[in-house]
Amino acid sequence: MTEAVPEYKAALVFEAVDRESALDIMARLIEHRRNGTTDMVAEQRREPIAKYLDQGLWEREIAEIFRVVPLPVATSAELPRVGDFKAMRVVGREIVLVRAADGTVNAMLNVCRHRSMKVVPQGCGSARRFTCPYHSWTYDTDGRLTGVPGEETFGAVDREENSLVRLACDERAGIIFACLTPDLPMDLEAWLGDALPLLEQLGLEKCHHFSTRELAGPNWKVTVDGFLEGYHFSSLHPNTVALTNYSNMAAFDSYGPHMRHVFALKSIDRFLDAPRKEWEPAEALGLVYWIFPGMAIAGGWRERTVVSIMLPGDSWAESMTRQTVLLRHAPQSPEELLEAERTADWFYAAFRDEDYTAQTEVMNGLSSLAGKDMLIGRNEPGVQHVHETIDRLLRGESAHGDRLSSA
Ligand SMILES: [Fe+2]
Repeated sequence: MTEAVPEYKAALVFEAVDRESALDIMARLIEHRRNGTTDMVAEQRREPIAKYLDQGLWEREIAEIFRVVPLPVATSAELPRVGDFKAMRVVGREIVLVRAADGTVNAMLNVCRHRSMKVVPQGCGSARRFTCPYHSWTYDTDGRLTGVPGEETFGAVDREENSLVRLACDERAGIIFACLTPDLPMDLEAWLGDALPLLEQLGLEKCHHFSTRELAGPNWKVTVDGFLEGYHFSSLHPNTVALTNYSNMAAFDSYGPHMRHVFALKSIDRFLDAPRKEWEPAEALGLVYWIFPGMAIAGGWRERTVVSIMLPGDSWAESMTRQTVLLRHAPQSPEELLEAERTADWFYAAFRDEDYTAQTEVMNGLSSLAGKDMLIGRNEPGVQHVHETIDRLLRGESAHGDRLSSA
């Protein structure tokens, strides 16, 4: 038994979003709805299944992509106040994010410089300093070592040299990015490129953090594929996503390695015969941004936005998704609270019971077809684009190559 789909409520937006560009996207979708079409690229893509299975390639993806690029690791709304922190394992690294006294976010390896113990237990909270539970070495929110108990017996410890290891970290458009390799700088504006102003329109930094839940998933590329097309909506999600969304009907755009899918909601039918000035994009379109390599922002023009951060786990077979629900404002009434809870439960259940269940089966099936190719459709430009981007980065090229052009 599936719960009723949470109501899609338009929010904000057109003070921040250029209404004309939103209407242009809506015009594309109305055209697709009239013709039963979707954005397509010129060719299918053949992706050797061996590339999913190759352990050595997986290790290169971790080392040359996930540990190098600016990685979306959290939303700003999770750390609203000075001292708020979040400790988590990300792609095989223990890290801690903390909002420092100057309001910026610091990212550090969450590993004590004495015995390599995890300093901050996994989770969120607020603190002025962090004390390692093993021998009580203490660090401030900038990672500086401030206390070494019994130092007269331990011997002098150089404070500078033994601070927590800092990672490059920056925040834009309500998203916190970190680079997992110490000393590697990060140019977030260049990395986000043309996607940055679009993300800034969503106003995520002003949102209220409602919930974050973790969802274990299969191999990261198998999981990513499922985020990047709406071709599967009617068959895999007949009682959830497909109740509100048309299947196989999307406007697709790429911005360097990043992407935007806009799906046609069934409510678009109300506007088919209406003049453009009466269109309401937030009610008719399902907007999903994808920040390479692992973040989906769904519903950014609405009351409730669901942000999924999907990253590889410790092994080839595992990924971990942190699904966050952001609200335009904290619930003001028991009804609003209930509606937010319903949204969070509904998205979580749909991902867990439908997408991730299917993708686990995909992963279990892949090795049987080891010598074959995976065929990626002309109607799956997002899936094509992510594999092209991975190839590009592994060849040492820039991720900001040519745009995929629609046929
Ligand atoms: Fe799905």
